[in-house]
Order: sequence, then C-alpha cells, then structure tokens
Amino acid sequence: MLNRLKAAQDSAAKLFGAVPGALLPGVICDRGEGIYLFDQDGKKYIDFSGGPHVVSIGHGNKEVRDAMMRQMEKVSFFFRGFWLNEPLLALAERIIRLSPPNFALCQFCNSGSEANETAIKIAHQYHIERGKPEKYMVISRWQGYHGMTLGSLSISGHTVRRNKFGLLLHHWPKIGAPLCYRCPYDLNYPGCKIKCARALDEVINQVGSHYVSAFIAESIGGAGTACMVPVPEYYPMIREICDRHDILFIDDEVICGFGRTGKWFGIEHWGVTPDIMTAAKGMTGGYTPMAVAIIDQKIGEVFAEKGASFIHGFTMEGNPVSAAACLTVLDILEKENLVERSAKLGEHFFQQGKKLSRHPAVGDIRGKGLLMGIELVKDKETREPFDPALRAAYRLQQLAMEKGCLGYPTTGVVNGVSGDTFLVSPPFIITESEIDTAFDMLDAALTDLERELL
Ligand SMILES: Cc1ncc(COP(=O)(O)O)c(C=O)c1O
Repeated sequence: MLNRLKAAQDSAAKLFGAVPGALLPGVICDRGEGIYLFDQDGKKYIDFSGGPHVVSIGHGNKEVRDAMMRQMEKVSFFFRGFWLNEPLLALAERIIRLSPPNFALCQFCNSGSEANETAIKIAHQYHIERGKPEKYMVISRWQGYHGMTLGSLSISGHTVRRNKFGLLLHHWPKIGAPLCYRCPYDLNYPGCKIKCARALDEVINQVGSHYVSAFIAESIGGAGTACMVPVPEYYPMIREICDRHDILFIDDEVICGFGRTGKWFGIEHWGVTPDIMTAAKGMTGGYTPMAVAIIDQKIGEVFAEKGASFIHGFTMEGNPVSAAACLTVLDILEKENLVERSAKLGEHFFQQGKKLSRHPAVGDIRGKGLLMGIELVKDKETREPFDPALRAAYRLQQLAMEKGCLGYPTTGVVNGVSGDTFLVSPPFIITESEIDTAFDMLDAALTDLERELL
C-alpha cells in the first residue's frame, strides 16, 4: 500500500500546480458508487462535498452511462460551428423550460469560468448593439467567486485566488458581501437598511452608470463566503438598482443551479429574475464538463433586431456526448423529484448540521437546501479567525477523510485571505441516516481539530 501511495505521489509531482507540502493526502480515487467514493485500497468515503457541489444524482449512474454510450456509438464529436446535434437542442429546450419564464436562449461552454466569461461578453455586446458601447464594466462583490480565467477572476473578489495575478486583471469596482455574520459595513440587520445592496447604487453613481454593463453575484455564496444567504430584501433591491441604471443582472448559478438549494435556481428563493444566469456543476452531475449561460428573451431580441451574431465560441462547446449526459441527469432530477427531495432533506440536513455549533471552533453555520457552510473560528465570542498559516480548514478535511468523510475546505471569508470555512453539499440521493453518519464523522473530526488548535 505504501509503495502504491509513494508511486502516486511521485506521479502527482509531474502534475503542474501540485502544492508542495499540501495538507491534503495524495489519495487516488478509484471508483464511485451512489454517495460513496472509494480509494485504491478500497477505503470508502461519503462524498459529503458532492464534488464540490457537482454530484446530485450520485456516482456511477448506469442510465447516464448508457445514454453516453448510445451517443458515442453514433458520433462523439463534430464542430458545433458547422453542425447542430439532437441532444444539445433537447438540452437547450429543457434548460429553458426549467428556468424562469423570461429566459429564452442558451449559450453552451465547458466550465463555470467560461460561462461567466461568456456572460461578461454577452452583456457588453448587448449594450454595443443598443448603441451604448461604453457600458463595459462589471461590478461584483468582494469574496465572490466566479472562476479562474482572467475575466472571471477579475470579477471574483476572492483575494487568495487573485492576488498573484493582479497585473493581469481588470480592477473593476466591487461592493461588500451581504454576509451578516461578518457585515463589511459593521451594521446590524434590519437597522442597516440593507446597506450591502445600497452600496451597488452608490458605486454605480461614483463610476458613472454609462460605464457599467452588469452586476454579477452568486445567488447564494460559494467558496468565498461559505454559503452566505443574503437577507430577503437584498435581491429585489439589487434588481431595482440594475433596472434604474440600465445594467444587466448576471446571476451566477454555477453552484446553486439545478436543485442544490431546494429550488431549480438559487435566485428563486427571492422571486427575482436576473437577465443572464450561468450554470455548470449541477447540470452535469459530474459526468462530463459542460456549462451554459442562460439568456433573457430581451437580450436575444436586441441581437436579432441588429442581425448580430455573438462573437464567441469554443471548439468543444456543446459536445453531443456531454449533452446526452446532461439531458439524462436532468431527466433523473425531474423523474425522481430530486429537487423537491433536496428541499425536504435540507430540513433534516440543517437540523443535524446545526448541532455542530456546540463546538467552540464553529462560529457560524449557514446555507440552504443541501448546501451548508461551516465557519471555523479561534474565538467564538470575538469571531476571531484562525491564523491562516495553520490551514485549519484543510486540516479539518484531512481529519474528516481519515474518518471516511469528504467536505470542501476553503479560506478567505474574513477579508479574502483569512477565515477558514468548510462546505458540505451531499448528493441529493443521500438518506437521512447517511447524513447523520457523515455529521458524526465531522463531529469527531472537529473534536480532533480543537484538540490540536485550541
Ligand atoms: C459560483 C462559482 N462560479 C464559477 C465557478 C467556476 O467554475 P469552474 O471551476 O467550472 O470553472 C465556480 C467554481 O467553483 C463557482 O463556485
């Protein structure tokens, strides 16, 4: 076993970007089945991170495998620029049917980062076609995360991921995150009068709305804010501000889209309709790379009136095997009522998860549906974070994995650099008793962590 681990680590050294001295173990994932992943030694782990936030219908689904095989037997690749394909057309129709009624068009791509790049470009070209070419800036939020490519990283406010690449990025304005536990404006709800939303209006006035193309936000926060859920007034206010300034609202649904929070899209919890939604993880279930920008009818109409095509596209975009896989994932989500299940099971998930707040190192637990963020603190009273050098969240992951449970460690919630968080978001097919088992493992891992760090 040791030889095999050593061989794996030697090979991993050939993967560019492997972190020297990383706290995560160099374990090779061998196979997946349902909610479980197995390493090469047959050790079983509950995939309590679901990917992170990717795996909905579970691992190893044979219906998806068969659909991909059937498509591969017909044809695996042709260039989307020259040919259409049936599964992709069906997928576009399905996505539009599942989206709020104002959405009418899909632009496919291969990752969440690409989907957000795509949305930035759609928004700008939309304004160009309307005779407002100077509207180019995208305003976003500190601690937001939208991807690793240069455009998506520019609109991300997650400093740990940005700060080595500052010279390559657009430095467009950002507003504070609507995270009450660590209010960036040092105010309390509701006396704050939702300053975090009003900040958008202020910054638009400062830079000039004639320069602003769009505002982008994750409906419910992801890696940077550990599942932050803005207050009910937040998105209605954001929508009104965007409309007043003729700015598009781009809703990043890469994590929340397709059921993760108990509704098809996270923004539905606020009853607000954005102009563009981006999605990736949930629509694939983890079976294939695929992503989409879902586009409002009115944007399509502007392009159509001008006879303008969108100057964009990727060679691998809309791959037919990937489309067949995604279509089957969505079939299963619908047929087995898994989005309703995510909402219902979410109640038990939060009831059990919130028991972890008895731990001195657990400062806050937040989220919705089957998406939960656990914020770790050194001092519960003062909310002081751990020293980032301790890499507390990564250590928690290591301890949890020893017990057979996988979560998703992240950092930067306090100021983009410090603040440890641990996200859990299991497949929607998990049972109540499996949720209890996973939380028991996390509970024990937290006790071990506290013994080491407190
Ligand atoms: C909210 C959000 N947007 C965009 C992305 C980028 O997606 P990808 O890693 O597929 O490029 C992520 C990735 O975690 C994400 O969480």
